[in-house]
Amino acid sequence: MNAVTSAQAIAALAPPVLSLRGIDKRFHLARGELHVLDDIALDVRPGEFVCIVGASGCGKSTLLRLIAGLDSNFGGDISYEGHAVKGTALERGFIFQEHRLFPWLTVEENIRLAFAATRVPAAEQKERVQEQIQRVGLEGFEKAYPHQISGGMAQRAAIARALVNRPRLLLLDEPLGALDALTRLKLQQELQRLWQESGVTMIMVTHDIEEAVFLADRIVVLDARPGRIKRIVAVDLPHPRERTHPLFNAIKRDVLGDFHGVEAAAGTAVAQTVGGDWYRRLAW
Ligand SMILES: Nc1ncnc2c1ncn2[C@@H]1O[C@H](COP(=O)(O)OP(=O)(O)OP(=O)(O)O)[C@@H](O)[C@H]1O
Ligand SMILES: [Mg+2]
Repeated sequence: MNAVTSAQAIAALAPPVLSLRGIDKRFHLARGELHVLDDIALDVRPGEFVCIVGASGCGKSTLLRLIAGLDSNFGGDISYEGHAVKGTALERGFIFQEHRLFPWLTVEENIRLAFAATRVPAAEQKERVQEQIQRVGLEGFEKAYPHQISGGMAQRAAIARALVNRPRLLLLDEPLGALDALTRLKLQQELQRLWQESGVTMIMVTHDIEEAVFLADRIVVLDARPGRIKRIVAVDLPHPRERTHPLFNAIKRDVLGDFHGVEAAAGTAVAQTVGGDWYRRLAW
């Protein structure tokens, strides 16, 4: 057993850092009730990387928002470090699909904005911003504005902004979804390195099955209408993972098999993106 898997084995013995029990979420619309999440139960261990996959509209973002404390109108219980989640907290960071940087602020100023609701002294803010800029490889671009950097760099800045408050849990809602395929591969490697270096617990929503197999300790597959956990797939492979390894591909094919019609095309770049237009056309 190598260092990574033995660390996972130790973490498995620790009590869960996040517990979801009987999560039920409904939206009340003019045309009636929309039942989005039904009886979701999940325990996440400290330092674990959990990916959530499922068809478009099955409730992945909704679930992440509940965990973040952005929406408190739901049934069931969510507890983080033994306490019920009530509202947002700096210890639970959130990264959105689009970077959400302010165009009139520089990279450095955008990251520093994360301290707005804190009492962190100015000198320490500066130090911590620089530390994160280095961590995500944006040295030299501190004074650049969002329009002067690439999409991948902007997403790195967003990751730095989320990490600067040193969250212990990071919630990522398709953070790489808007990037081109090569930038995406590179940022997957960087996310994997950041996760291992920081020890932060990560829960990431993705449409990309290969991305999930590359990053996750466990993949939670959600069914749609209402969103229920169909199954949880453990990815017991050491990091960094080799995408061409037969076991890697076997797990990828297994998860793809949960999405009707996609198995036949497994292995093509298009099929790996379950939420892509191609799949949407095929399934709906
Ligand atoms: N604030 C809201 N009010 C009403 N309905 C909502 C609201 N937010 C989400 N929904 C509905 O809840 C369902 C789940 O939405 P959600 O955004 O969680 O899906 P998702 O799995 O993240 O989809 P995608 O993969 O396309 O991002 C959808 O049918 C959506 O229309
Ligand atoms: Mg979503």
